[in-house]
Amino acid sequence: MPRLDPAATDVSIELDGQPWPAKAGEPVACSLVAAGEPLFSRSVKYHRPRGAYCFAAACSSCLMRVDGVPNVFTCRTPAREGMRLERQNAFPSARLDVFAVTDWVFPNGMNHHEMFAGVPVAQDVMAVVARKLAGLGQLPDGPGIEREPARVEHVDLAVVGGGVSGVAASQALLERGVDHVVLERESFIGGRAAYGVPESHGVELPLPSPRVRFGHNVMGLFEDGGGRFLAVIASERLLKLYARRLLITVGSHPPLPAFGNNDLPGIYAARAVSRMIRRHRVLPGQRIAVVGEPGEAARLAGLIESCGGEPVAVGLEPVAAHGLGEVSAIEVKRQGETLKVACDAVAVASNGSPAFELARQGGARVVFDGARFVVEADGDGRTAHPGVFVAGEQTGPCSVRESQERGRRAAITLERTP
Ligand code: FES
Repeated sequence: MPRLDPAATDVSIELDGQPWPAKAGEPVACSLVAAGEPLFSRSVKYHRPRGAYCFAAACSSCLMRVDGVPNVFTCRTPAREGMRLERQNAFPSARLDVFAVTDWVFPNGMNHHEMFAGVPVAQDVMAVVARKLAGLGQLPDGPGIEREPARVEHVDLAVVGGGVSGVAASQALLERGVDHVVLERESFIGGRAAYGVPESHGVELPLPSPRVRFGHNVMGLFEDGGGRFLAVIASERLLKLYARRLLITVGSHPPLPAFGNNDLPGIYAARAVSRMIRRHRVLPGQRIAVVGEPGEAARLAGLIESCGGEPVAVGLEPVAAHGLGEVSAIEVKRQGETLKVACDAVAVASNGSPAFELARQGGARVVFDGARFVVEADGDGRTAHPGVFVAGEQTGPCSVRESQERGRRAAITLERTP
């Protein structure tokens, strides 16, 4: 039983015309997983089955057509009564997609750019077929909704991200009387402290900061005649936030290590599993293989066990996943041997890859530290751009406590930096 509170569902949604139970307000992707449906769509080229992986709008594996609008992140879209979901890129259905034959016929990949190139007639036919098959989803059913013009605001300091480091920074700034705003896309603060894989030592949720603006999703950093501004989506409306200084604390993305069939539905990032359990009371399977980085895997296994699940293959190196349409077993390495372990979900533990995109846009340098790309900054969060500071996991993996400390240090430095 994936839902730890079975009575939690309170609305009905529609998936490819069939009714499914869901819980109002939780990400609709989570509702589908809780209802036992990990298959969300098919991939663009080889029509391989797709399911949610990161639950953080960072992998695009959960895109579906929602209420007639294509390519919607279902891991970020709250479920509500009557919501219509359609799986994309499949004919006649995602379970039995005839175009999946492409994956069988070209097991070593296909160079569609040169296929039939130079062959009279065939190349023209191929161009038409490729055009029909290319792209993801279909155009919306109707015109988009009218939106109000962008709102404009000017601040001195914007903290992007209300996770542990962002909130710790905000508290340090408040203590010092430094005016600022904190932009948080979720409806709660605390990030990893609130839903991450539990740390080996206890972690307290950060104290709330009155400067946090919830539901503020920063899309990027742009420039116009008025200077540089953050493009922020807030309540379906664009906010152009001109900030003289930025402290970026947007954490990291969960990478997906390379192993065979690592894209099968039912394979999730460890932090996605942790989020489903801790925020939404959903266990994505009964027998869950928790592979990858041993420390995080062991801690997640403890959480799964405490909810009545059965963690297997804990901390072992994944070699290949198996399953038709969704994962049903995983091959792992143990003491030089390969063994196959049956499971109904896989959680992949790994150190996060810094979400450096915004800092990079802001003028910070991004460097390879031997294992991953990180934002280059000194111990106080200063980057190559004098108006851009970073904290938390932006400069590499760290514990929640270290993340808080980095946030505080960056805030203190900001106070002293005009
Ligand atoms: S983007 Fe939604 S699961 Fe990754």
